[in-house]
Amino acid sequence: MGWGMWHIPERELRVLGDFAGKDILELGCGAARWSVELSQRGARMVALDFSATRLAQARAEMDRAGVDFPLVKASAESVPLPPGRFDIVFCDWGAVTFTDPYRTVPEAARLLRPGGLFAFSNSSPFRSLCQNRRTDRMSPRLLYDYYDLHRIEYPGEVNFQLPYGEWIRLFREQSFIVEDLIELRPQPGVRTTYLRPKEVEWARHWPLEVIWRVRKAGATPARKVRRLRSPAAARSR
Ligand SMILES: C[S@@+](CC[C@H](N)C(=O)[O-])C[C@H]1O[C@@H](n2cnc3c(N)ncnc32)[C@H](O)[C@@H]1O
Repeated sequence: MGWGMWHIPERELRVLGDFAGKDILELGCGAARWSVELSQRGARMVALDFSATRLAQARAEMDRAGVDFPLVKASAESVPLPPGRFDIVFCDWGAVTFTDPYRTVPEAARLLRPGGLFAFSNSSPFRSLCQNRRTDRMSPRLLYDYYDLHRIEYPGEVNFQLPYGEWIRLFREQSFIVEDLIELRPQPGVRTTYLRPKEVEWARHWPLEVIWRVRKAGATPARKVRRLRSPAAARSR
């Protein structure tokens, strides 16, 4: 199991933590390679995708691997499963990239138990601002307005992206605590079929993809924080 374009191993990044025995939902599973391996390693998986073709590929992968778990055909923006069903909701360049975060992040929050983990890889805002939306090619210049980031149309596909502050406000509104923002840097000389060598070099200088790791606030009461009075307020007592 490897994250992102550079396939950085999960055993190295430990994004999902201890997953054996956990209830896990993969959003936008494609051929479900992640879900199959997680299932083989003891996770209780549910894999979701809105494409019947991708789910048929997932079923074939599952049969080959000799594992079985529920496949759900639905959009990640509106998941037909009960609240509090999962310990982990995640995807690697899955549905989060292609869905409106103002819908998908609240869905993830609804589906998770208190203390549950939401983790996903996605392109970085840097990429969204430097990738020419007509040609797909990366530029060393900022081409678009940072504050306009939301729905981005490329030839043949729509992606979603937010400014960093917006992501953080959205997570906080949904009772998520940001645990990590991992910026994935390729090793020198790495190749990928998704990018030209010059673009891999781009990604050596600026983060092209990131992993957000956020946790739904737990059931345990928050630690009592002693409110500090401002020096002026303290003097006026
Ligand atoms: C780039 S593929 C990645 C698949 C998988 N994560 C992998 O690593 O192989 C993105 C997947 O997200 C799915 N997807 C896109 N929009 C979706 C949505 N609104 N709801 C559910 N799945 C969606 C696509 O059908 C596709 O299978």
